[in-house]
Amino acid sequence: MTAPPTPPPAAPRVPRHLAVIMDGNGRWAQQRHRPRAIGHRAGARAVNLCIDFCLDKGIGALTLFAFSSENWGRPEDEVGALMKLFLNALEREVSELHRRGVRVRFIGDRERFPDGIRARMREAEALTAGNDRLALNIAASYGGRQDIAAAARSLAEDVAAGRLRPEQVDEALFGTRVALADLPPPDLFIRTGGDHRVSNFLLWQLAYTELWFTETLWPALDAATLQRALDDYASRERRFGLTGAQVAGRQDEPTA
Ligand code: IPE
Ligand code: IPE
Ligand code: MG
Repeated sequence: MTAPPTPPPAAPRVPRHLAVIMDGNGRWAQQRHRPRAIGHRAGARAVNLCIDFCLDKGIGALTLFAFSSENWGRPEDEVGALMKLFLNALEREVSELHRRGVRVRFIGDRERFPDGIRARMREAEALTAGNDRLALNIAASYGGRQDIAAAARSLAEDVAAGRLRPEQVDEALFGTRVALADLPPPDLFIRTGGDHRVSNFLLWQLAYTELWFTETLWPALDAATLQRALDDYASRERRFGLTGAQVAGRQDEPTA
């Protein structure tokens, strides 16, 4: 009996949309006996590295989890340090991002941020709105449940106002009311820092996203680690609930 032919390796594929939980700043600082805020500052360098990597690889959209709705509960001095860092980053980085063709947007409950940060968020979005090389989405004061609840509320308002009938609410319509509705859902999710959880990131949008985890702490991120994630992603078979044969377009497996 001859062995069946080995299938060709999957064609290299680059995710259209990468979603990242940037975790491990605090532990990175603690390992160096420094305050956690130093870890957050070092994390800003890794943000630039990740953006450069996406531009280099032709990844069209990058969504970074910068601050969760639950992170407001951290000690006041840490939240304060993070607010300063956000403001500094907005002041320093946006013009360079604009020059490089990056469109910047923020998702999350921005009402909770101080006025100065909100104003800079608006300015960054307005300045970069026409760019199309990379859609960079910063999730700040973001929670996946909050995102879904806001979508439900907006649909409920339409029903209450008579603009929509309840039976018109389906997955497709719901999906237009959550964050990032105009982008393809993330193909690949990366979490640094060694924990294997989603921590209330894009709950709706991650339904069929490929998940990839690394022990690397966010400030220690390098391009080789990101490349490992991309290589792993390119080798995976995404089945979306179908069979392997269906996905491969083969008809050689019985269906019943
Ligand atoms: C991620 O790093 C950054 C934010 C959540 C703002 P952490 O601050 O969670 O770092 P660890 O997980 O405590 O090491
Ligand atoms: C998730 O990290 C949020 C961000 C990276 C912004 P956390 O550090 O807040 O998540 P948990 O608490 O470990 O789940
Ligand atoms: Mg953490």
